[in-house]
Amino acid sequence: MSETGQDTGKAAELLKAGKLVAIPTETVYGLAAIATDSEAVLSVFEAKKRPRFDPLIIHVHSLESVSKYAVLEDKMLKALAAKFWPGPLTLLLPKKPIIPDLVSSGLNRVAVRIPNHSLTLELLKKLDAPLAAPSANPFGYVSPTRAEHVQKQLGDQVSYILDGGPCGIGLESTIAGVENGQLCIYRLGGLSLEDIKACCGSYHLILNESGDPSAPGQLKSHYSPMKALDFGPLPELLSKAHSTRSCLILFGKSDIKSDERFEVMNLSESGDMREAARNLFALLRQADESDCGQILCEKLPDTGLGRAINDRLKRAAAKD
Ligand code: TXA
Ligand code: MG
Repeated sequence: MSETGQDTGKAAELLKAGKLVAIPTETVYGLAAIATDSEAVLSVFEAKKRPRFDPLIIHVHSLESVSKYAVLEDKMLKALAAKFWPGPLTLLLPKKPIIPDLVSSGLNRVAVRIPNHSLTLELLKKLDAPLAAPSANPFGYVSPTRAEHVQKQLGDQVSYILDGGPCGIGLESTIAGVENGQLCIYRLGGLSLEDIKACCGSYHLILNESGDPSAPGQLKSHYSPMKALDFGPLPELLSKAHSTRSCLILFGKSDIKSDERFEVMNLSESGDMREAARNLFALLRQADESDCGQILCEKLPDTGLGRAINDRLKRAAAKD
């Protein structure tokens, strides 16, 4: 068990002593260490059982501080940063030597973001150092959107959990960068493609869907509950029910009620994608802890945050 509270002074002291602290953000909770402290960063990889080839995101409190650790010169990335930071956006930027290679897994770009959460911004200002933080879950499992989620799974690995309440967005940040003068999106997330398009015009989608762990970015199978999960349009989904009782996670108004075959949950009865994003990971955990034999998840429309939610569910359903 780890101590939980809202004391950013205590969190700062522990981090300065090389310890790990769980931090709230608007997307998901992070497992943080001071990014310039290689030993502490190493223990982040160990605590999560995360392979070293999967690089970490650094979190900073202001645009001015970004330039201490990375180079933000590209016009499109600058426009995105100006419009969406603090917020659910991560930029891949040329790394400065002060950031250890361990953080970027030896790549020459480092992932950077300014999170939009008052407690974590207060902590970052107190530290005046960047925090390297992956999502605070064991590698490959569902991301945490509440302090209790972190306590349950990594409670023994962190010195303190900074409790900022339930995450307002509930999906990881959208990851963007530039290659050969083109804006590229590497992970769908809490900032929609529509918002990115409105700011920059066009973009290239480079979503890694291979099962090859040597390709940093996203693995095909990720965000996975322990139970078997199927994902698809409703009629097709219902035909996949094979256990005596299945957990059925719906989106939007429905007449299907819980009975002896299904335990019904809903991401958003009113069909609101933001609400669905906020509920997604908590409901997946609840389904995983239920006594149902399998999880069936309805596909959302492929627009706005629906795309990122479908992306997570597709990876959660992937077998390898
Ligand atoms: O919302 C978020 O981004 C959360 C909160 C805590 O900030 N963090 C998060 O971190 O989702 P993590 O480690 O679970 O996911 C980071 C993703 C990984 O897929 C990683 O491979 C990719 O970012 N990534 C990080 N640095 C990269 C780099 N230099 N090049 C390519 N991909 C990178
Ligand atoms: Mg993660």
